[in-house]
Amino acid sequence: MSEATPEHERLDAASLSARDAYRLMTDVVAPRPIAWVSTLDARGRANLAPFSYYQAVCSVPPTVIVAIGSRGDGRPKDTLANILESRELTISHVSEPVLAAMNATSAELPPEVDEWEVAGEPGQRLQSRPSSCVAPPRVAQALAALECRMTHAIPLGHGRHGAPSSTLVIARVECFWLAPGLLQRDARGHLRVIDPAALASVGRLGGMSYARTTDVVELPRP
Ligand SMILES: Cc1cc2nc3c(=O)[nH]c(=O)nc-3n(C[C@H](O)[C@H](O)[C@H](O)COP(=O)(O)O)c2cc1C
Repeated sequence: MSEATPEHERLDAASLSARDAYRLMTDVVAPRPIAWVSTLDARGRANLAPFSYYQAVCSVPPTVIVAIGSRGDGRPKDTLANILESRELTISHVSEPVLAAMNATSAELPPEVDEWEVAGEPGQRLQSRPSSCVAPPRVAQALAALECRMTHAIPLGHGRHGAPSSTLVIARVECFWLAPGLLQRDARGHLRVIDPAALASVGRLGGMSYARTTDVVELPRP
């Protein structure tokens, strides 16, 4: 593999505006999975919002990370405030059928407005299903979900008004939910690979773009 050629343009991270740094991070590190995060505030009010600074980072124990940026005025987003308070979150999987509903829940709404109510067409409202280990419910229409408990919250960078630029939440998965038909076992009882076509995962690209998983390439390990 050749090194970066002279034609490549080099940008020093320290010289970038926050806007351009966001541009490069989200355009280059792509596609990213989307965590559709359900939380509850201290009064039990529900919140639901998507986050694509999201990744699986450990299998034993199953661990995920989600990074939540501070608002322009320095206040934490409702999702982060709720996680810091309760340590509980449920992450629903984003697939093609729920893409528009997921997008609708990214609207900046005051804490008293329930994103579950605003997402989806009339007659096709989002429905919740109770979780088993944590309080925040999962999205019924999502094909998979992870009930999680926060283990660490790490502030990153310096944002406005003394707030961190972002907060990295590390969370342990307490249990998994999979839609009927997705889980299959081989003769030895091991889980088989879930059919990517059945899960129809969607990835976030830069800007307003999303990637489907309809063009899958299989590559045996060397
Ligand atoms: C696909 C998608 C991915 C997003 N990823 C992030 C993210 O990784 N971090 C973040 O802070 N905001 C992200 N957002 C924006 C939040 O969803 C948005 O700020 C939302 O209003 C936060 O809601 P809350 O205040 O109820 O927590 C994303 C939005 C979309 C549509």
